[in-house]
Amino acid sequence: MATGPDSADDGSFSPDDYRSLHARSLADPEAFWLEAARAVDWSQQPERALDSAAAPLHRWFPSATLNTSYNALDRHVEAGHGDRTALVYDSAMLGLSRTYTYADLRDEVAVAAGALADLGVGAGDRVLIYLPMIPEAVIAMLATARLGAVHSVVFGGFAPAELAARIRDARPSAVVTASGGLEPGRRVEYLPAVREALALADSALTPVMVKHRDGFDSTGPDGHRAGAHWVDWDEAVGRAVAVPPVEVVATDPLYILYTSGTTGAPKGVVRDNGGHAVALAWSMRSIYGIGPGDVMLTASDVGWVVGHSYIVYGPLLAGATTVLYEGKPVGTPDAGAFGRLIDQHRVNVLFTAPTALRAIRRVDPRGEAIRRHDLSSLRTLFSAGERLDTGTSAWIGDLLGVPVVDNWWQTETGWPICASPRGLGDLPLKAGSPSLPSPGYDVVVLDDGGSPVPAGTEGSIALRLPLPPGALTTLWGSDERYRDSYLSTFEGYYTSGDSGYVDEEGYVFVMGRTDDVINVAGHRLSTGAIEQVIAGHPAVAECAVLGVEDPLKGQRASAYVVLKAGEHPDPAELEADLVRMVRAGIGPVADFRSATVVEALPKTRSGKILRKTMRQIAAGKPYTVPSTIEDASVLDVLKPLLRPAQRG
Ligand code: COA
Ligand code: AMP
Repeated sequence: MATGPDSADDGSFSPDDYRSLHARSLADPEAFWLEAARAVDWSQQPERALDSAAAPLHRWFPSATLNTSYNALDRHVEAGHGDRTALVYDSAMLGLSRTYTYADLRDEVAVAAGALADLGVGAGDRVLIYLPMIPEAVIAMLATARLGAVHSVVFGGFAPAELAARIRDARPSAVVTASGGLEPGRRVEYLPAVREALALADSALTPVMVKHRDGFDSTGPDGHRAGAHWVDWDEAVGRAVAVPPVEVVATDPLYILYTSGTTGAPKGVVRDNGGHAVALAWSMRSIYGIGPGDVMLTASDVGWVVGHSYIVYGPLLAGATTVLYEGKPVGTPDAGAFGRLIDQHRVNVLFTAPTALRAIRRVDPRGEAIRRHDLSSLRTLFSAGERLDTGTSAWIGDLLGVPVVDNWWQTETGWPICASPRGLGDLPLKAGSPSLPSPGYDVVVLDDGGSPVPAGTEGSIALRLPLPPGALTTLWGSDERYRDSYLSTFEGYYTSGDSGYVDEEGYVFVMGRTDDVINVAGHRLSTGAIEQVIAGHPAVAECAVLGVEDPLKGQRASAYVVLKAGEHPDPAELEADLVRMVRAGIGPVADFRSATVVEALPKTRSGKILRKTMRQIAAGKPYTVPSTIEDASVLDVLKPLLRPAQRG
């Protein structure tokens, strides 16, 4: 019977096996995770797993030391697998594909680490990485980790103000960027954004390393391609010498990844080195069923957590091949892009977001473009980032002829809270559910008072502490904000921010966020941050931004705006202004398009906007009007605007 992390994947894994595996991980986390830790090469072996001395903040493998980059690269080379393919860079934008063996990638990373060290980066320093989907993104992350430094990758679709907020918080010793990114029909100039962000963050003297891309302007602030604070990637690595991996304590931070919270200020999720490596190694083998020599294509972006875990670290820790795809699921050049990638690179596991699948289906409902390719290498499709609707799941499953495995997690957790452990066996899947809690995750659904609810009843999904290895250890620079944001609502639990229910067999169903976080095309955004930008318009008195249902992107941000007395702008012009402002203030990724002028917003007598009630109405969910409402007639006027389909 399979009961531990090392159980054989002989296909005989049963629901009872799962239950005993999960129960063991909760009853004896020490033994479970020390056993799982054997998949990692440590400089100093862990003597214990869990350190709860600072509970409710927990740490994993406190006495151990390692280097994550060494685990991702060097150890495979030293074990004689240097010739295996580590990374395939496939750019649909440039029409090229380039392969790096483990030895190639190790060498490039070691020299890039040398170049960062020449800029003054050392252990514990932060490196901000703002790069498109090019190999240098992977190399820069691993080079930072090699130095024992801490990377913070920022998604390219964010505007300078968002970049500046992250620079201000992380205070990086260096920025790594490229001169440009390629979006269909649009070239994205990165350097003006970087310059503006550094100026906004009062960090103009921070060294910047720039990967020049053909066709883009790589001129630095002093008018040269390279200058005092502005160095060219190729020149810098040309001058640098390879450096060895730096041993760090398992609890030292590996990276900060900023994510949207309910306020405008992004939260810097901190991931450690040891717990992260252990959890990802476990997930690669037991959830994704990936081992040495397998090929994984995660069609996301290195700027998101899915990219961190399953484009970069997971596949490389496992000794597998990762495909870094610069392109879209549709339009680059057609809706067969994923089919081509599977065929050309013999992909075994594809991981993407439901929006990408819906985009393919919309353009090519019969999947003809994908069908043209040889898909025989594919074993499983994994989907995460947003709720996977059953129609899309069934459609893509039929088309690809493989199981479609939904998995639920967050930037904060770093790896699936819930998934079907496909690497251990084929447990039954249920439509609409990301299956079962992963080891170490004690998933409990709570009512508003913090009491567990019976099976089948919806409530707040909470995770009993401690969280397993790999989950966030704190928020950058503020244990207090971590406690306030996640640990204070229900004592002894981490609040996920999602609502849902667990059925009689323990399968979890995730229904949506309980807060002001929205998910647009699998991209997590804060409505509060969008509101802040809109409130900056001179004609706007106040506003509320909600996520409304969208057939392609899952959700879309929609603003309801009250004008200042005496302001009468043309509604279409106002909307266009606000769209421009959100694009400039948050970034194109917000994909903000709709603003409706309203007479008033529903509020409590103390002046708090009833966003939750508005959200419930917009989602067509049952709602109760709070007794504290100032003027209930405002809601009656607003209702048809919030649910236009029900108008009249
Ligand atoms: N750099 C700069 N701009 C970017 C960008 C990047 N890395 N990524 C996206 N953008 C821009 C797009 O060009 C687009 O700009 P536009 O308004 O000028 O057209 C805007 O941000 C919105 O992008 P997106 O929401 O991605 O829409 P899209 O129309 O470009 O593509 C999909 C639609 C479905 C193909 C795309 O959303 C997708 O692949 N989604 C999958 C989601 C995903 O990977 N999630 C990660 C978590 S798993
Ligand atoms: P992010 O931190 O960007 O990964 O976004 C995390 C949020 O995305 C979660 O809190 C959920 O709201 C949503 N999400 C991610 N995966 C799923 C899934 N499989 N099903 C439903 N919602 C999901």
